[in-house]
Amino acid sequence: MRSVPRVNQIVSDMAEIDLERVLCSLAELTAEGCREFTIGTGNWPLRGLVVQTSAGVVAAYVNRCPHAGHGLNLRPHKFLTPDGSLIVCSSHGAVFEKATGVCVAGPCVGQGLLPVPVTVADGYVLLAADVDPSILVAD
Ligand code: FES
Repeated sequence: MRSVPRVNQIVSDMAEIDLERVLCSLAELTAEGCREFTIGTGNWPLRGLVVQTSAGVVAAYVNRCPHAGHGLNLRPHKFLTPDGSLIVCSSHGAVFEKATGVCVAGPCVGQGLLPVPVTVADGYVLLAADVDPSILVAD
């Protein structure tokens, strides 16, 4: 007979995760290929996106296009080309590699999205512990 974890055991397992740094779950990322996140409050929170490459690499970027500084998406969580292989800016069509954030076509070729350092723990993608999100907003 399989044992069912008690509620306090689940809470105990989750206690080591800083919930304010959770960007998304791996399950969400696997199912949809990309997730949008907001860390912080007020007028200037950190807004970003998390992607997973076909090789399983997880990467995150600030949601700001290097071409004109616009947010990349028009619809929630929609950042990818139709085949899911690249990140696309909805403003003028720049496309970026998922693994590096480098623009490979469009008006800002050779420039890149600002990376957000992340860690993966217990099925969640987290903002890395040593990163101050306000620094990324200011860049
Ligand atoms: S703002 Fe992204 S391509 Fe122009």
